[in-house]
Amino acid sequence: MTTSRIPGFYNLTLEERRAKLADASPLSPGELIRLTSPLAPDIASHMVENALGTFSLPLGIALNFMVNGRDVLVPMVIEEPSVIAGASFMAKLARANGGFTATSTEPLMIGQLQVLDVEELSQAAERVLAKKAELLTYVDAAESSLKSRGGGARDLEVRIIEESPIGKFLVIHLIYDVRDAMGANAVNTACERLAPKIEEITGGRAHLKILSNLTDKRMAKATCVIPVNELEILGQVDNLSYTGEEVRDGIIAAYAFAAADPYRAATHNKGIMNGVDPVVIATGNDWRAIEAGAHAYAARSGKYTSLSTWSKDKDGNLAGELEMPLAVGIVGGATKVHPAAQAAVKLMNVKSAGELAEIVVSVGLAQNMAALRALATEGIQRGHMSLHARQVAIAAGASGELIEKVASQMAEERVVRIERAVEILKSLESGK
Ligand code: MEV
Repeated sequence: MTTSRIPGFYNLTLEERRAKLADASPLSPGELIRLTSPLAPDIASHMVENALGTFSLPLGIALNFMVNGRDVLVPMVIEEPSVIAGASFMAKLARANGGFTATSTEPLMIGQLQVLDVEELSQAAERVLAKKAELLTYVDAAESSLKSRGGGARDLEVRIIEESPIGKFLVIHLIYDVRDAMGANAVNTACERLAPKIEEITGGRAHLKILSNLTDKRMAKATCVIPVNELEILGQVDNLSYTGEEVRDGIIAAYAFAAADPYRAATHNKGIMNGVDPVVIATGNDWRAIEAGAHAYAARSGKYTSLSTWSKDKDGNLAGELEMPLAVGIVGGATKVHPAAQAAVKLMNVKSAGELAEIVVSVGLAQNMAALRALATEGIQRGHMSLHARQVAIAAGASGELIEKVASQMAEERVVRIERAVEILKSLESGK
């Protein structure tokens, strides 16, 4: 049985952490090695053109996550300090009330066909709709691995774009169920198959045939309630203390800023994506697609706003909610060819793309709360500072236990600079 509670994980060596993870997770020793092994250059060279090799990033494990009553160890690939610690800490607070409750919709993607040179747009639109059933059957008649897994064409929608730099035109949306795949290839193929039929019916010319990354029919939602007493901060540094009520209201005020102001909403949502992207990357999914969908969704009302909401519930506890498009898969694409991505999927023990999306959205919500809690209290720099100090210490040449020593001295002095790190390192090495 997986447990996501591994006290003291942070203070262990890399080897000790791997041993703990082996005990706490369903991964075999081989899978555990694959989770952190570099991608073989020959696989890389089949994935992209002109490959020279690979580029690696840190992979860490977010702890304490409980999603829909199940403990999950969450793999995160990210270069930024504080993110994994922040998510793990907020997941611990959320655990006090059962963790995260998450849902996801059916995996319905949208494929778009832009149809130009149509004479009578409304009449052409009606003709397409009248032949909907026939068209869906035609799309599904093609062999596809998704169809054998229960996916396929589900619906057609027709839109008329009334204003554009080239005037009016017709747009067809093919709604396609991609089951456990991200589905880009399947949708694009289906759109290309549909195109000649649409040209026949409309008398127009099918120009673009491509999926939309605004996957607003493929959504995931997470909620959590943090007991107000869990939010209390008793000052350890600089004697800064906050009651649970103060932290809760500070988080709600921070959310209100993002809800009202696009300048703040962009940064607020970036904090959400700090949680979302690392899991998306660890599982070999397309993070640019997820980013594009998230920000387009945040602007759906015509005004860019917060993807999450934070409020006080009837018992005075802090209630958070995040709903966003999440087109992630667990079969096909890079997830299939990248051994670490496969191990990452196995680590979370997810059996469907929807289940993965539910974990990802929960991590996004936890990350958002970590940022707002820090911003609403001691500020973001203190947490960042100590981890940043470690990176600077490493860059200055420190290794082993000297990293921590150099970093703590710089954090204490509040001077985190490479020149200072070199000085401290020299004096530690010479025993002065
Ligand atoms: C930094 O990577 C993310 C934050 O800026 C998010 C936020 O401001 O909410 C801390």
